[in-house]
Amino acid sequence: MADTVNGLKTVDEFAGIESEAERSTAVFQEVMKVIESPRCLNCHPRGDTPLQGDDMHPHMPPVQHGGADFGAPGLYCTTWHSAENVAFLTGKGNISGHSPWQLAPGRDGMSRHDRA
Ligand code: HEC
Repeated sequence: MADTVNGLKTVDEFAGIESEAERSTAVFQEVMKVIESPRCLNCHPRGDTPLQGDDMHPHMPPVQHGGADFGAPGLYCTTWHSAENVAFLTGKGNISGHSPWQLAPGRDGMSRHDRA
């Protein structure tokens, strides 16, 4: 049996569902747990402002999507975000890093997190 990750079900756990329709629904519902994670939606927000944290609060400092999904001129994402995480001097938290770092294209995110 495959290892579980973050409490998600493994593929094997769906094998016992005989109805293909029910199995498909069950698998899709499991996938939605990932897609609707704040970790994803924070970079795929609805509107013009990225979100932060598991509570999905507006990004601080306030920033905008910008024409190239990379922040507004003068305050591009790379003003703060580099290729790696940078720990705060307080030791609590960090500025996230990855290369490239930018928002997902578009303004409708994955279009579900405001419909709950
Ligand atoms: C750091 C920001 C960031 C995070 C976090 C992030 N994404 Fe993305 N996502 C992007 C960017 C940027 C693109 C566009 C990449 C490109 O066009 O090359 C993208 C593209 C996508 C696409 C393709 C959309 C399309 O129309 O082609 C999907 C699907 C997607 N992301 C899902 C996810 C999921 C699921 C998660 C969480 C597991 C996630 N993303 C987390 C930034 C992010």
